[in-house]
Amino acid sequence: LHKILVFILKIFYSNLYHSFAWSYDFVAWIVSSGEWFDWVKQTLAFVSKGDKVLEIGFGTGVLFKEVTNLGNQAFGIDESRQMIQITRRRLKAFDRNLKITQGNCLALPYKNEAFDLVLSTFPTEFVFNLEFQAQIRRVLNKNGKLVALLGVTFNRKSFVDSFYRFLYALTGQNFNVEFIGENWRKVNGEENLRFTVKDIPFKGRILHFLLIEKF
Ligand SMILES: C[S@@+](CC[C@H](N)C(=O)[O-])C[C@H]1O[C@@H](n2cnc3c(N)ncnc32)[C@H](O)[C@@H]1O
Repeated sequence: LHKILVFILKIFYSNLYHSFAWSYDFVAWIVSSGEWFDWVKQTLAFVSKGDKVLEIGFGTGVLFKEVTNLGNQAFGIDESRQMIQITRRRLKAFDRNLKITQGNCLALPYKNEAFDLVLSTFPTEFVFNLEFQAQIRRVLNKNGKLVALLGVTFNRKSFVDSFYRFLYALTGQNFNVEFIGENWRKVNGEENLRFTVKDIPFKGRILHFLLIEKF
């Protein structure tokens, strides 16, 4: 049964990023009790003035717009044509600085050491891919870092949070900090990269950020 559910979810997600991309913001709102983009925007705390930023898998472009608003030079890449369209529409007013590309983050079309900061919120499995990590090492400046918002734990003592914990457990979305830690420790031997998981409390929930620093 679990395998069938995982299979159905895979198809569901794929559609959500492509043919059903128009419904993405609504679905994100539902699965987060309305807080999805509040969570996503917490990533802005990691952005310093003047940082040259790359966002990977920007989806509907909510964070990308905020980063552009800060005045930072920002580049974005997403593999979904539909997501690109939605983001272009959202950013119309800013298109002078717009550098968004349709492409695969496992083969980033940027020069070596091109960015101070790489952001990714709610990335899919690509974030665990060693090829992705190699790309990150390549495009980051020395002392640059990747900040990825990997997941959220519903920690409030409320019916709503119990419900979401149940829902996430059912769909296998439960965030397993231990597993992530394991995975990072395995690759921690990689030269010049430091992996840390940073848990930031936010309104009774916990946001789990992964930091990969290049030194
Ligand atoms: C769960 S959504 C997250 C969107 C947005 N960052 C947010 O927080 O709402 C994942 C996004 O990553 C994109 N994506 C998935 N695999 C990718 C890849 N290999 N290269 C680039 N983008 C990818 C999808 O098209 C989708 O827009």
